[in-house]
Amino acid sequence: MKAIVLEGVNQSVALKEVPTPTPQKGEVQINIKAAALNHRDVWIQKGKYAGLKYPAILGSDGAGVVTQMGEDVDKQLLGKEVIINPGHNWGANPEAQRKEFKILGMPDQGTFAEYICVPSQYVFTKPAHLSFEQAAALPLGGLTAYRTLFTRGALQTGQKVLITGIGGGVALIVLKFCLAVGAKVWVTSGSDSKIEKAISLGAQAGVNYKAEKWHESLQQQAGGFDLIVDSAAGENFPKLIDLAATGGKIAMYGGTQGTIKDIIPGRIFWKQLSILGTTMGNEGEFASMTQLVSTKHIVPVIDKTFPMAEAEQALRRMDNSEQFGKIILQIY
Ligand SMILES: NC(=O)c1ccc[n+]([C@@H]2O[C@H](COP(=O)([O-])OP(=O)(O)OC[C@H]3O[C@@H](n4cnc5c(N)ncnc54)[C@H](OP(=O)(O)O)[C@@H]3O)[C@@H](O)[C@H]2O)c1
Repeated sequence: MKAIVLEGVNQSVALKEVPTPTPQKGEVQINIKAAALNHRDVWIQKGKYAGLKYPAILGSDGAGVVTQMGEDVDKQLLGKEVIINPGHNWGANPEAQRKEFKILGMPDQGTFAEYICVPSQYVFTKPAHLSFEQAAALPLGGLTAYRTLFTRGALQTGQKVLITGIGGGVALIVLKFCLAVGAKVWVTSGSDSKIEKAISLGAQAGVNYKAEKWHESLQQQAGGFDLIVDSAAGENFPKLIDLAATGGKIAMYGGTQGTIKDIIPGRIFWKQLSILGTTMGNEGEFASMTQLVSTKHIVPVIDKTFPMAEAEQALRRMDNSEQFGKIILQIY
């Protein structure tokens, strides 16, 4: 089969011929039709990820058709259009994943390939209203967004939410989920045109985080936020503490801008703030997420679809923050 292979740190990925995997007991083989990038793929390429192993076939997100099954798998799955839950081995505790938790696409083979084999419990019916490209945009970001907003953030209809860095793949799914449940959303971005696009999707307004005193202008526009969703961290994070409403929550699933400094403790405790860490989610949350997407006919925002052979250009587009939404690979 053809696959996108990464041979080592800071190498370009390349389209190669590799052996096709066959399903083991309890596994299904899926012919991937479309895959999607996550920032994780860029981190792995740069060597900034734990447990790296090369050569690697990256990719956590995929949608396709079940083509073969190992023993002990429901034969009715054959020919079904499916998406894959990329979070494996969460464990029994809904509060946090166990140490065996792993994400599809490192150390195991990922979705940037014509075929993949995964345990059948991670295979879910593709929401009927989504194309393969739209469905491939959903799994990792949708799962992360679901746990962030509903399990950790306990989001309620009518609440005010701030989403930072709205161009991001996860951030835009967070926006779609917020709108679907009737929350009011403000955004930040490093690009004015991305803010305009977010407003056209239903956000109230937004500010450019590169502008001086951006947080003061946001405070004037919106007042305090009930929930702030962030994956940037870094030097702007203390401003989020100022922007949170009294009793509000800040939920974070990433740290793209690095270490957080200069937090004034009193601003957290006197405001009764909750700062919540969150990562992907468990199998129940994945099922609830696909249910929400199907019931509310949510369609993920797609930035651009690349042919499989242009995977390296797709990774560079993400690395340069050029995207607005999910970057898709069309698999042969
Ligand atoms: N813990 C988890 O389970 C989990 C799951 C998914 C992702 N993540 C992490 O979350 C981050 C985002 O992932 P992704 O796949 O959505 O990546 P992505 O599509 O590459 O999005 C990253 C976004 O970060 C925004 N950004 C850059 N600098 C910023 C700043 N100073 N302030 C606010 N936003 C800034 C940019 O938004 P603009 O273009 O609008 O400026 C950019 O589009 C990554 O660090 C990733 O590793 C973690």
